Amino acid sequence: MLIKMKAKIKTSLPGPKSSKILNKLKKLNGGYYDPYPYVHSNKGDGCYFYDIDGNLFLDFACQVASNPLGYNYSELISIVKKYSTYPVKYAGQDFAIKEHAELLEELLTITPHDLNAAFLINSGAEAVENAIKICMRGREKAKFGLAFEHSFHGRTLGALSLTHSKEIYTKNYLKIPNQTLSYNENVGEELNSLLKSYSSEEIAFVIIEPVQGEGGYNIASKEMLKDLRKITRENEIPLISDEVQSGVGRTGKWWAIENFDVKPDVISAAKALQVGATIANKKMFPESGAISSTWGGGALIDLALGKKIIQIIKKEKLLNNINKQGTYLRKRLNEISLHNVRGLGLMNAFDLNNKEERNNLIIECLKNGLVLLGCGKKSIRVIPPYIIKKEEIDEGVSIIEKAYKKISKKGFKHTGLICKYMSCGEHPT
Ligand SMILES: Cc1ncc(COP(=O)(O)O)c(C=O)c1O
Repeated sequence: MLIKMKAKIKTSLPGPKSSKILNKLKKLNGGYYDPYPYVHSNKGDGCYFYDIDGNLFLDFACQVASNPLGYNYSELISIVKKYSTYPVKYAGQDFAIKEHAELLEELLTITPHDLNAAFLINSGAEAVENAIKICMRGREKAKFGLAFEHSFHGRTLGALSLTHSKEIYTKNYLKIPNQTLSYNENVGEELNSLLKSYSSEEIAFVIIEPVQGEGGYNIASKEMLKDLRKITRENEIPLISDEVQSGVGRTGKWWAIENFDVKPDVISAAKALQVGATIANKKMFPESGAISSTWGGGALIDLALGKKIIQIIKKEKLLNNINKQGTYLRKRLNEISLHNVRGLGLMNAFDLNNKEERNNLIIECLKNGLVLLGCGKKSIRVIPPYIIKKEEIDEGVSIIEKAYKKISKKGFKHTGLICKYMSCGEHPT
């Protein structure tokens, strides 16, 4: 980056050009919920991006952890430019393209040793869906799976059945059978107690986010994950680590579960990888034809970007930067006395007193050019790109500090157009 950038908001939020598009979306998008009060332009650099009204934002939300290298990373632009033919999406499981094989090869250089095969798919939810399916296939006596309180695994019905973060996602939807474990040290006791009522073969799988995402950025303890692994291994119950949000470097290791010295049987990934992936030992995958999808392993540009992103993280030693800047970020957030600052690498969060205060802070930061995301009931995620520098952390933290002082004043209330977007802090992925 040649010119030093600094967040700058020149218009009301949303600005006039953004407002037009947001109004159209509100009318036409069947899945509409309050998006952020701006519309992206394709301009930006590193951790900064412009909206179409010319406002410059500092991004500590990273497209919900799916944009790990920020905006317009030159080597990624070169990949995009390389694909100027049509189609850019093939029916990749049926008709082979080399990008499919190449991403698999690169991905499997960063997975735990025994996890030596992967199935590529369109989204995080589908990565979870297929993780569940490959576990169930070999377990004909299975009756139910085990998931955790506050979990978020996606929106397709299988993954949604295992999602226990907020009722709005699940109300009236039929579920695949599952029971819920506590996300704390009681898990060993709970699992042992279940194994007194059911045989291990009746349990199809256990699925866990080593760091919970949408449900509140809760971090599992080492003891909890060790107990879980020990009992599941002794009873031959497959353990799925859902790393859709935490995987591919976000926590300072390639996989969040590596922070706990635990090896899962299956990993689900997506977001930073640009495509969904269900990763396991080749022997765990079912017979040919059992799992597939038209576009799985077929989105040329996404596959090539996924491979390049892994290569850049390796080449630029970004795991070191993630750990170094993550430690610095938490130190700075603690210095301004925020509650319950927590995180691994660049997957961080802190708490406010309640949801209203949380949403107020997100909006106030936005008005000053910093993008943050909510999670859980009253938490804020701080998830900048892997390339973040110390000065950019300082800029972001100083915006948070000023905003926090402002919204903490008695009787504080937002006014104007922005009030229509007050719930954008409750971002549901
Ligand atoms: C842990 C986890 N699993 C699954 C999903 C679903 O991914 P997608 O939205 O790509 O379907 C998410 C999305 O945020 C997630 O955080």
